[in-house]
Amino acid sequence: MLSSAIDGIRLSLHVLAATIWVGGQIVLAGLVPSLRRVSPEATRVAANAFARLSWPAFAVLVLTGFWNIGAVNMSSQTTAWKVVLGVKIAVVVISGASAYLHTKAKSTAGLAVWGSIAGLSAVAALVMGVFLAN
Ligand code: HEM
Repeated sequence: MLSSAIDGIRLSLHVLAATIWVGGQIVLAGLVPSLRRVSPEATRVAANAFARLSWPAFAVLVLTGFWNIGAVNMSSQTTAWKVVLGVKIAVVVISGASAYLHTKAKSTAGLAVWGSIAGLSAVAALVMGVFLAN
């Protein structure tokens, strides 16, 4: 069955924001070695430019995420669905917190650890979201 217009808007906003938050981190990670060869400054400029897109996208994900919950009939969802939703919300918190700590890290190890956790947890949230969609 075709989604209603409002469901289409809600899910399109959620998925568009996910492409920026999740896909953007993967693309930036792929660009960093090349940017470093240009100059260490180039990496910082690109990371700051990405932050101006990624944090608004994260806010849209959280807002449309709660909109998704409001639109779903909770009483007709299985326990497994609710467990995956709970785990997904915890993973989203980890993704946001680790991305924030990545921006504050001073050492290369700190940048690598928090950046990896941010990226992996973002992908995990995306996969869980796909399982939740019905
Ligand atoms: C890093 C953050 C997030 C990512 C990457 C993400 C990603 C996704 C994706 C890809 C889908 C599948 C959409 C589809 O195929 O139609 C989805 C669905 C869903 N997401 Fe998220 N999401 C995030 C945050 C959240 C948050 C914070 C919540 C709740 C507060 C949430 C609740 C949901 C729900 C309930 C669905 C199912 C919607 C439905 O079937 O109508 N998401 N998410």
